[in-house]
Amino acid sequence: MPDRFGVAALRGYQRLPLIKGFGKTQRIDNWWNQPIIMAAALGFALLYTFIRVVLLDGSIHYENHRVTSPIFSPDILHMFHITNHPGWMNSAMLILWIPFGFRGTCYYMRKVYHRSFFQNPSACLVSKPHISHGIGYSGEKGIFIFNNIHRYMLYLAIIILSMKYYDVVHTMQFDGSWGFSVGTLVLAIESFLLTMYVISCHAFRHLVGGALNQWRGRGSNIGGSLFRFSSKHNVNHNLWFWTSLTMVFLGDMFVLSVAEGLISDPSFIIW
Ligand code: FES
Repeated sequence: MPDRFGVAALRGYQRLPLIKGFGKTQRIDNWWNQPIIMAAALGFALLYTFIRVVLLDGSIHYENHRVTSPIFSPDILHMFHITNHPGWMNSAMLILWIPFGFRGTCYYMRKVYHRSFFQNPSACLVSKPHISHGIGYSGEKGIFIFNNIHRYMLYLAIIILSMKYYDVVHTMQFDGSWGFSVGTLVLAIESFLLTMYVISCHAFRHLVGGALNQWRGRGSNIGGSLFRFSSKHNVNHNLWFWTSLTMVFLGDMFVLSVAEGLISDPSFIIW
């Protein structure tokens, strides 16, 4: 029997006045903007990465003071002097599974792809397609069980992040002298945004403070402070997700443009 008189509310939950039919809703705002923009941004990111890594993987850095594209950073082939590799291989092919795995299992990312790609649901209080009703949402089951590796991807992402700072320091070495350039700034901003993305991660919060029963005594004060710091930024996790992702591509376009001679990279030698 349809629950029109609040029996559900008496049981402790309230049925939403959802109209059945894909995209149907009582909302009067432009609710479709967010899923469309998110789908377009993620689609662009995937396409750009594929083209850059597989088809156009030249000009990934420029010399003098080595500045490496964020997509190919850390350039482990160069870092570990690996030369006997197939000609088609590049560093991105070896390391991108880590940022992909980290972002792909991110709690915020789950919301993004469920809304923009699966339309399950498209937005709050918006009816989903009939097929999504049939599939339903059953949590982290089936293929989505892999989302549970997020904490392990975090540990690997922290390693990648520290190597990115090594790349920033690398940009400050000019043939025996030290200095900085716009390229240094670009990689530093990219590393900072990625740091904020990692610090605001839900799994990071657990890593620094979640395993404690109380924040008193010994090292727990430090854990508690880190936990509060991470929690403060966790509310803006979506912001750090998008800004850090955007900077990866802006950084790559910058490096590509300098390496191809389209623009220059003003530098300042200080020592
Ligand atoms: Fe988004 Fe961990 S929850 S990176």
